[in-house]
Amino acid sequence: KIPIIIDTDPGIDDAMMLILAFANDHAFDIRLVTTSAGNISQDKTNYNTRAFLSYIGANVEIARGLESPIIYEIEEAEEVHGESGLGNVQFLTPTLPISYRTAITAMLETILKSDEKITIVSTGPLTNIAALILAHPEVKAKIERISWMGGAAVGGNVTPTAEFNAYVDPHAVEIVFRSGLPIVMSGLDVTHKAFITIDEMKNILNKDTDLTQKLNQMVEFYLKNIKKTPFHEENYDKVLHFHDVCAVMYLLKPDIFEGQDYYVEVELEGVTVGTTVVDYMEKTGKVPNVHVLYEVSREAFVKEFKKAVEIISER
Ligand code: BDR
Ligand code: CA
Repeated sequence: KIPIIIDTDPGIDDAMMLILAFANDHAFDIRLVTTSAGNISQDKTNYNTRAFLSYIGANVEIARGLESPIIYEIEEAEEVHGESGLGNVQFLTPTLPISYRTAITAMLETILKSDEKITIVSTGPLTNIAALILAHPEVKAKIERISWMGGAAVGGNVTPTAEFNAYVDPHAVEIVFRSGLPIVMSGLDVTHKAFITIDEMKNILNKDTDLTQKLNQMVEFYLKNIKKTPFHEENYDKVLHFHDVCAVMYLLKPDIFEGQDYYVEVELEGVTVGTTVVDYMEKTGKVPNVHVLYEVSREAFVKEFKKAVEIISER
């Protein structure tokens, strides 16, 4: 089993990512979940994580992360994920408590006490991970790699060139990308290829259970709020992009993805703030620091995701 820590900001697609991660307990040993401020405030992402994981019957420590990005003010994505962060779908009050440890302490102690190296999955701004690395650089020796959903080599979703997670906390990206740690970047280049059509989603949710009803409501909310521009491909607003699922799917099924190591730098200010510049033309001559994914077998992706929804539905 791969020992992992998940840092997340639910977020509709974060919830879908949690389904994939917790359904595959034969593959993952999930040691800890931490929450980042991003799609919505820290209060809400932490609450949503506890509510959703309680709902799907997970048993894991959930620690509260930092309130805001390293330097900039938080910018949320309520228009995509709703006021609650989960498409305004109601969940019962969480039974899983907030950990007595902060995210940074919980990550530090979990990593240091582990016999094996830990893989970190991050599907929100990298704030907590950057703070961990800055405060406790000794953890680096015990981190296997970081699988992050964020960034884009070509085209953004919050500005013409920046992806949301990178845009919210570019300084955190800078710290993590310069850390020397192995990083896998599931940016928009690959997450847009890992789309799920509405018919496929109907098929995934074809059994009438409480879970499928709730996921259905989230999906409807998510679809309604996709903003298409004339620069997007034709069907952009007619399919589902569960970006965050890619960061876990890559660990589960690396062979269904294609990627390459590149040198990547992030823009910290101005009109291009949050842009991850992937040197795919190899102009800089700098040593690659990120494994950038750009291709996925969509069929295999959809099949694995469907399996995960079925497993959680039956629990
Ligand atoms: C990313 O931004 C968030 O809105 C999603 O949860 C995902 O992590 C996609 O750009
Ligand atoms: Ca997210």
